[in-house]
Amino acid sequence: MDKTAKVVLDGQEYELPVVVGTEDEVGIDISKFRGTSGAITLDSGYANTGSCKSEICFIDGEKGILRYRGYPIEQLAEHAKFPEVAYLLINGELPTAAQYESFRQDLTYHSMIHEDMKKFFEGFRHTAHPMAILSAMVTSLSSYYPEVDDDADDHNIIRLLAKVKTVAAYAYKKSIGQPFVQPQNKLAYCANFLHMMFAVPTEPYEVDPVLEDALNVLLILHADHEQNCSTSTVRMVGSSQANLYASMSAGISALWGPLHGGANQKVIEMLNMIQQDGGGIDKYVAKAKDKSDPFRLFGFGHRVYKNFDPRATILRKSAESVLDRLGVHDPMLEIARQLEEVALKDEYFIERNLYPNVDFYSGIIYRAMGIPTDMFTVMFALGRLPGWIAHWKELRNDPSSRINRPRQIYTGAGERDYVGIADRG
Ligand code: SDX
Repeated sequence: MDKTAKVVLDGQEYELPVVVGTEDEVGIDISKFRGTSGAITLDSGYANTGSCKSEICFIDGEKGILRYRGYPIEQLAEHAKFPEVAYLLINGELPTAAQYESFRQDLTYHSMIHEDMKKFFEGFRHTAHPMAILSAMVTSLSSYYPEVDDDADDHNIIRLLAKVKTVAAYAYKKSIGQPFVQPQNKLAYCANFLHMMFAVPTEPYEVDPVLEDALNVLLILHADHEQNCSTSTVRMVGSSQANLYASMSAGISALWGPLHGGANQKVIEMLNMIQQDGGGIDKYVAKAKDKSDPFRLFGFGHRVYKNFDPRATILRKSAESVLDRLGVHDPMLEIARQLEEVALKDEYFIERNLYPNVDFYSGIIYRAMGIPTDMFTVMFALGRLPGWIAHWKELRNDPSSRINRPRQIYTGAGERDYVGIADRG
């Protein structure tokens, strides 16, 4: 028998259907509640509200589980290639060898951007944040590839996945005043990006396989995370039937915030501040606990994970091996370790289930790879792009999908008459 839930309001009982997910998650369906009761529900920050049903990503915050289309993140990070994971998220299944080869070729051969788009970079100051450039350039792609026919989305999905790595690398080259490096058809996705980032015309550049492997894991770990702030933004914008590029650009802007994808940049700035200040870990843990102090421990805490973020577990190990293999000694890693150790023993953090999240160690690896701090959130966006696309496609292919339009409870002034300016004192 189908489960139901009962709500009693002003003595009237309302029976609501209950939806049970693959992993026995329970959701009370309130889609008819306002029509029958006249009341809405309220949930600031949507912490307790499901916006949709989805088949793409499963997270269990209590058990630290993260799966893409059923595959555990640990297995994908260890065995898969990022384009393979992108294909899985967008299409629902891991590609066959033939499908993978064709997909990889598409991502390679569509990597160049229109020569006219390079002129856009001339308008940005060299100090422009690369997230501003990324967001603007992704929206601008819609002017080169308008949606003209039904399967335009599939072509545009390939174009977007292929070109965003080029735009990201060019944003970096712009910031250091170096010439753009063209994508190379002989290079795989991660190697192609690294080549465009670090090659210079004056000498040959060979991509270090350690860097390529590290980037592959980082992009896979960031590829999707169910209804996080930026993915929900992509679904919100996509629900108005805005085009793919506009929807992704909105996701990039949402990710930029320091409470979300911008945290990886803030973590390194925080570790740097602690190091500059003589490494007083206890002082900064005390600041993070002090309600009168706006300082937070960036890279700590999560809306869903309440025991550990499985991605942080993988990145903590990866940070050590990547730095060892690169022969890099970064004092930030030691400070991060000490910060984690002190915080995890502190009642304040224990009571609030605050643990390192995906952003706590990722920046240390990016630094070791030679990627500058203000490019860290761009790297997050590169990884998250297939997840955003998968959710956008799922929403657009759902015949029951409607424009997202939440309600509110109004708490402003009651009705009042207009008073002419002469009579306002
Ligand atoms: C990402 O949603 C996703 O899935 C996101 C993400 C993804 O893959 O898309 O996982 C990526 O965005 C990871 C999170 C990166 N952000 C940060 O590292 C910024 C620092 N973290 C916090 O701002 C915070 O923990 C959030 C934003 C991550 C979660 O915020 P919530 O769920 O709204 O929690 P909250 O702010 O209500 O905090 C609960 C309590 C509060 O204290 P009390 O009011 O109960 O006394 O914990 C405290 C907060 O003050 N708290 C922190 C803290 N995080 C929460 N105190 C100090 N330092 C922190 N980092």
